[in-house]
Amino acid sequence: MKKLLKYSLPLVVLLLCNCNGGQEDTPTTKADSPTTVTDVSDVQVVLPQAGHVALVEGYCTPCHSLRYIEMQPAMSYAAWEELVDKMINAYRAPIRDTVKRRQIIDYLHAIKGV
Ligand code: HEC
Repeated sequence: MKKLLKYSLPLVVLLLCNCNGGQEDTPTTKADSPTTVTDVSDVQVVLPQAGHVALVEGYCTPCHSLRYIEMQPAMSYAAWEELVDKMINAYRAPIRDTVKRRQIIDYLHAIKGV
């Protein structure tokens, strides 16, 4: 028993300390899946540059990254409408212009619609 402890303890310590020769973990530069972010510099979202993208970039970024849009699954027009209305009504996104609201929904449905 004593012998077992003597030899197994260093092994356990080695496993627990995750030693890698004292080197810093090198940050992974590329996320391996769209929803996995390993470093903050990986969060670079470029939405398709078409239609009313400028409205989305302007009105949807004061509170959070465009990553939320990128991570969203493809949705129906009604579902995008509901989501944008949630941003406006629940979170107070300042989109009071009804034309702009519609153009934003049009754009979102165009890039991620079913
Ligand atoms: C006033 C702040 C604000 C603005 C502006 C805003 N959002 Fe959000 N958004 C939030 C908050 C807060 C959450 C997180 C909600 C949660 O975690 O439940 C969120 C979450 C989301 C999500 C994640 C899914 C979900 O249902 O929570 C999506 C997608 C999203 N926003 C899209 C948009 C789009 C598109 C716009 C522009 C039209 C926008 N947001 C503008 C506050 C905002």
